[in-house]
This record gives sequence, C-alpha cells and structure tokens, in this order.
Amino acid sequence: MNALELIKQQHEEVAGLFKKYEKLAEHADAERQELFEQIADRLGAHAKIEEDYFYPALKKEDTEDDLREAVEEHLSVKRLIADLLEMDASDEEFDAKMKVLQEQVEHHVEEEEGDLFKAARKLLSKDQLDDLGIQLEEEYDTLMEGEPRNDVPAETEHAAPI
Ligand SMILES: [Fe+2]
Ligand SMILES: [Fe+2]
Repeated sequence: MNALELIKQQHEEVAGLFKKYEKLAEHADAERQELFEQIADRLGAHAKIEEDYFYPALKKEDTEDDLREAVEEHLSVKRLIADLLEMDASDEEFDAKMKVLQEQVEHHVEEEEGDLFKAARKLLSKDQLDDLGIQLEEEYDTLMEGEPRNDVPAETEHAAPI
C-alpha cells in the first residue's frame, strides 16, 4: 500500500468504529468505553505517524498553511481525546464529546484527503509514496503494540511543529 492508500484505510477504519459507536444502545457503557479506547488508540497512532513522517514529506512553501491547519486540527482532536480519557462512558457528557470528536475527525479527514493528498501526488513520486507507505505502516504497527491513547494527553499543550 502506498502512503495515501494506507492513510485512507486508517481513516475508514476509524469511521467504521464511530459508526459502530453510534449504533450502541444507550446503556452499553462497557462497549462504549471499549470502542472509545479503540478509536483513541487509532487516532493517537495515526496523528503521530502523520506528524512525524507524512506532513514533513509535504512541507513546501505553498503547503505550509494547510499543514499548520492540519496540526491545529490534530491538537483539537487530541484535547477531546484527553478529556474523554478522564471521563467515564456513563457520564452524561460522554456521548456529546464523542459526537464532537467524530465531527472534527470527519472534517479533518475531508480536508486531508482533499488538499493534502493533492499536494502529496504533486510533490512525491510513485516510489516515494510507496516507501513512505512502508515507513508509515511500520511505525503505526509499532505504536499499536502499546496503548497510544495514553500518549495523547502529553501532546495537548501545543500543535506538533511544522
Ligand atoms: Fe491528520
Ligand atoms: Fe489522517
């Protein structure tokens, strides 16, 4: 899988988990907690590989504004995840915060797969996209061996550097 296919697949996986979450019955607190943790792990690891490898590969004068916006959106998502990590699925505000998280992720994904993917196709060769895909997948799998959601609260002070 090249870098863009891999990133898209991860976006779709998270979208699927959000859909599952939406379908849960009102009092399925244990299942809601479990799905939140799955989503938070995936988003934490996904944001990290983008910030460490994907975004730097796209850094050019005319992509800087889009990249800055992207890392600000990541920051906002991480702050929601950090809030949710301190909450309980039975809390009244839990579902509302999950909904906001879902909406922010959907918005971010739309822009990423639009403007940033366009820039990536322009700036990177087919081989570069393939190599980057391998690197992203390795990093992601390594992060997912742990519980990457637990690294998120430490990343809520500032947006990742561009
Ligand atoms: Fe992103
Ligand atoms: Fe992404």
